[in-house]
Amino acid sequence: MGKAIAIAYLKEGANVVAADFNEVGLEDLAKEVSELGLISQFKAVKCNITNDDDCANAVKVCVDTFGTCNVLTSNVGIADDFSLVEDITNEQWDRLISVNLTGQMKMSRAALRYFVANEIKASIVMITSNAAFESATGGPAYSAAKAGANGLMKAIAYEYGRKGIRCNSICPGPVMTNIANSITRNEAGVAVHLATGYNAHCREWTCKPIGMADDIAPLSVYLASDESSFVNSASIIIDGGVCLG
Ligand SMILES: NC(=O)c1ccc[n+]([C@@H]2O[C@H](COP(=O)([O-])OP(=O)(O)OC[C@H]3O[C@@H](n4cnc5c(N)ncnc54)[C@H](O)[C@@H]3O)[C@@H](O)[C@H]2O)c1
Repeated sequence: MGKAIAIAYLKEGANVVAADFNEVGLEDLAKEVSELGLISQFKAVKCNITNDDDCANAVKVCVDTFGTCNVLTSNVGIADDFSLVEDITNEQWDRLISVNLTGQMKMSRAALRYFVANEIKASIVMITSNAAFESATGGPAYSAAKAGANGLMKAIAYEYGRKGIRCNSICPGPVMTNIANSITRNEAGVAVHLATGYNAHCREWTCKPIGMADDIAPLSVYLASDESSFVNSASIIIDGGVCLG
């Protein structure tokens, strides 16, 4: 999804710094951007969102390369193992929260420090999930982290809106991406979620409907741009109606 969003931003004429800890993925993206003839607008930086220095460095690279930073699209996320609450280990819980919730805070904090110090009017777009509202599309740790990220989004929107910094979240339903690779598997939990009929993250992708990353990117373009200047503190579900059950 991050790749689709980056390319959509580039096509709008934005300069983009892509930050990810997967260097191979970043190289693939740079190649694709190059083929589109947009490489002068693009920079990649290795960043683990759980690491404070990496988050600060990603912002610095953006400012050093393009002169400023006025949008953060915070997209990183991993799936959980769909462990039932009675089975989940502290390690499973902590892993999810550290990336999907604390990571969002660390990246937002790094960007906000720059925005506030430099009086930048900015937009933060967090990719959370419809699992924040509809628990059957994520396991307990995933759902809790995504609900927490939506709460973080609201706090930022409230605290920083008066400074011209908006914050909104996109809450996708099932989208065909590589996120299933981050499942370390718990058969019992997966089976229970399969029984609900719309487990977003099962390896078989049995749920319907399933979106594509390009279905999500235009909303991110809108929320990042001035066209959405009156939109602040919104959690926008984009899931093809999956939440309807
Ligand atoms: N795919 C879905 O069905 C779905 C549904 C709702 C929400 N989401 C959310 O959408 C966002 C994007 O996920 P996706 O589906 O494109 O998954 P993906 O696995 O294809 O992409 C996630 C990216 O995050 C990177 N990443 C993971 N941990 C990282 C870390 N600690 N530091 C830096 N980078 C890290 C990965 O390398 C990968 O490039 C996530 O927040 C996810 O929770 C996905």
